Amino acid sequence: MRLVLVVAAALVDADGRVLMAQRPEGKALAGLWEFPGGKVEPGERPEETLIRELAEELGIEVREPCLAPLTFASHAYPDFHLLMPLYICRRWEGIPQSREGQALRWQRPGALRDLPMPPADLPLIPFLIDLLGP
Ligand code: C5P
Repeated sequence: MRLVLVVAAALVDADGRVLMAQRPEGKALAGLWEFPGGKVEPGERPEETLIRELAEELGIEVREPCLAPLTFASHAYPDFHLLMPLYICRRWEGIPQSREGQALRWQRPGALRDLPMPPADLPLIPFLIDLLGP
């Protein structure tokens, strides 16, 4: 089975809320809410991917110190297996803005279950509730 590596970020604000982005129309899993990030391209280090994706999608710059994945999601989709490290970021440069037409929303971890999310992302919710509280 093909293995796909996607990096994702939990951007955490001063109130312990996490930024969620809605996958746009035309993409797989359109309308579902995900942690911002994207696919690691050949030749890229995962940390480089995260820096690139957050700049492209949100117009922010994250720095090396926040770039340590604290947990991983792993999910078998019908056609590929997804491995997704989650990086916790509490500091960045700039204000996150929608650069690709995606809706954005800050949400407390305990309220993430109210959002429809890709199945791979769901196991990350209890981890964030443990880390940040509900
Ligand atoms: O974002 P992108 O479409 O490049 O991601 C590739 C695939 O990884 C998606 O089609 C989706 O199945 C999965 N994915 C996911 N959760 C995310 C991001 C991607 O399940 N947060």
